[in-house]
Amino acid sequence: MPQTFAFVNGRQIPEQDVRIGLDDFGFIRGNTVFELARVYGEHPFELTAHLDRLEASLRLCHIPQRFTRQELKAQISALIRTHKFADSVIKIYVTQGATKATGYSLGITATSCDPQLIVLNQPFTPFSADYPYHERYYKEGLKLASLHAERPLAAAKTTSYIQATAASSEHLADGMDDILYINSHGCVTESSRSNIFFTRGAHIITPAHGMLDGITRRVVLDILTELNIPAEVRDVPLTELPKMDGGFTTASTTEIVPVQSVDTIRWQADNALIQRIRTAFAARVAACRGAGTSLKTA
Ligand SMILES: Cc1ncc(COP(=O)(O)O)c(C=O)c1O
Repeated sequence: MPQTFAFVNGRQIPEQDVRIGLDDFGFIRGNTVFELARVYGEHPFELTAHLDRLEASLRLCHIPQRFTRQELKAQISALIRTHKFADSVIKIYVTQGATKATGYSLGITATSCDPQLIVLNQPFTPFSADYPYHERYYKEGLKLASLHAERPLAAAKTTSYIQATAASSEHLADGMDDILYINSHGCVTESSRSNIFFTRGAHIITPAHGMLDGITRRVVLDILTELNIPAEVRDVPLTELPKMDGGFTTASTTEIVPVQSVDTIRWQADNALIQRIRTAFAARVAACRGAGTSLKTA
């Protein structure tokens, strides 16, 4: 494996030398905000949207932003140009850092913590042996198990996945692939690491509240407008799912994956409408790869 590099607080170092302190509240309490963006060829996909969301997550979590967007973009660009991976991901982590808060205070103030900014660029090859998201999911669809739970600060992208991880461990034993969050109003919100869409006749429906504002979700909504496919962004009660004809998840890593079932409700994974959206999404990726988007214009 060739040497890979990372930026830690603006300093480029070998990735293997990146360390998180034992006193970092990102480690002690799980207070870490992050982003993951795909890089097709040498071109980051929807980078501006990812950086906007990173800043929004920091604000929601009250972690001070101690870097500028220009600095961050320069670091991302430097890593991509150094590594020249065929396909990769950019991962950006901001941990809360060591806190200077005294007594029993939990509060985060601009001066009470020392946020650490870590920027990584790692190779990413879907369908390869080292990537657990196999082709089977795209052909057969995901089997989702409903989980009555809500992600705290759902609009923020944080590294706190313990709720989903713990529940998934139980469901995976029952042959399920992932969980589907159901909020206290009985409405679907999202899956563990992806957003959810449903098809009903010619319509596409996706939840409006209580989930991460996924970048892939936004691109899909844009594609629906482009293709004149009617989209409904609204609350989706779990009890409505038997009336749906199909579903799919969206995420930066997995892009668009059909859903085979939610609990005992089953659908065909090779839904023609989903296939149309996947084709349009692939065209967006191809445009990005073909230098349609560059770091300068992203
Ligand atoms: C909880 C959750 N919802 C949705 C998504 C999808 O977001 P995106 O399309 O920006 O990758 C993710 C991605 O990590 C996630 O963790």
